[in-house]
Amino acid sequence: MNCYYCDEIKSTAPEYTDSPARFDLGSAAPRCSKHWRYVCSMCDTANHFMSTAFCPSGRNFFCSRCATDVRQEAGEFWAWQYFFGFRSPWSGEWVPTLDRAEFNGEHPISIDGERAATRLAISKEEYIVRYPEKRTLWRPEHEVTEADVQASWNTNAERWDSMYDDDGDRNRRYQSDEPMLALLGDVESMNVLDVGSGNGYLSRKLARSGASMTGVEIASRMLEIAAEREHQEHLGITYHHASASEMDFLEDSTFDKAVSNYVLMDIKDYVGALNQVFRILKSGGHFVAVFSHPCFASGPAGWVVPAPDTPRSEERFAYRVDTYFQRGPYYGVWGNLDPVLSFHRPLRDYWRAFEETGFVVDGFDEPSVAERGRRELPPWRVQEALRIPYSCIFRLKKP
Ligand SMILES: C[S@@+](CC[C@H](N)C(=O)[O-])C[C@H]1O[C@@H](n2cnc3c(N)ncnc32)[C@H](O)[C@@H]1O
Ligand SMILES: [Zn+2]
Ligand SMILES: [Zn+2]
Repeated sequence: MNCYYCDEIKSTAPEYTDSPARFDLGSAAPRCSKHWRYVCSMCDTANHFMSTAFCPSGRNFFCSRCATDVRQEAGEFWAWQYFFGFRSPWSGEWVPTLDRAEFNGEHPISIDGERAATRLAISKEEYIVRYPEKRTLWRPEHEVTEADVQASWNTNAERWDSMYDDDGDRNRRYQSDEPMLALLGDVESMNVLDVGSGNGYLSRKLARSGASMTGVEIASRMLEIAAEREHQEHLGITYHHASASEMDFLEDSTFDKAVSNYVLMDIKDYVGALNQVFRILKSGGHFVAVFSHPCFASGPAGWVVPAPDTPRSEERFAYRVDTYFQRGPYYGVWGNLDPVLSFHRPLRDYWRAFEETGFVVDGFDEPSVAERGRRELPPWRVQEALRIPYSCIFRLKKP
């Protein structure tokens, strides 16, 4: 049986000497010993060879978690466009992960042969233990209240905010803000409502474009962060601590435009919120709603990879979706955040709610990679962003 990674390399370098697979036999990615897993000498865990580097001065293998810093470095080699560089906890020098080290002729096996140190570091596990796919953590609708929504965002507020700069997080900056702002159009001297304003980055951005901004947000901790920023840089933004489905303090027909950026799927009473936004908009006013694309956010959503331990996003070969027509609250898992409470609804539920509220849909988009992303992201990140849309954007008009 061939090694999956030796085959990958051979596909671009036919002269490469491949090795037979000895580990994870029978899986979608059987591997030779060089391309198997290595035990980190600091934390004693086994990791994918591309999540492992060898420090020549420390003469030790170490993993991405024990590296003092990790970066992606551009550089085409064999089947790949980039590699990871780890900073050694012993010498402080940057060393490439074992895939790139092998290409450079610096892999410890090429230098030392099968010396004891190398052989000991190759993990003795024969297989990667695969657990059944995590199912969606659905909750019964009647058990979930707005207090749970608040709690979910309050606990995550600091970690959430740390992913942002003035232009949002990576997804907003490189993917969805450009099409969202294009649909929102001019805001100069207009009264604009930001529904679910979070840490307020969008309210600030629109205020800097001349809008008179009002933000409504249910999570007190998010609101505090936004208020702190307003205190530091006075942009005249008014924030209200309230639910979007109860905005009685805002008068009828007073806003020119409204926006909600990744919020509708987090609102329990989204129909109530739509009715409120409709009420406060002037006739002819627009509401631009960006939300997680329901077609790609349901069931055990996530990427399917042949080697479950791979750090490379380009090895993802499909995206998993299921239980699309099931509705209700669930806890989603995002990076290092505590599980985030959201509500799944098929797209047609949103469509019907827009119509029943009285809105007319007059614009739509599905963000992939924006101009800024094409300019600033390395090509493999552009490729990543071109696979599936994480969000959809509706522009709704109050007739
Ligand atoms: C994914 S965050 C997006 C925040 C911000 N719009 C942004 O783009 O950075 C969702 C926000 O919606 C807020 N939220 C959830 N339910 C809400 C409700 N019923 N009324 C107002 N805000 C709500 C959450 O507290 C959270 O701050
Ligand atoms: Zn191999
Ligand atoms: Zn480690």
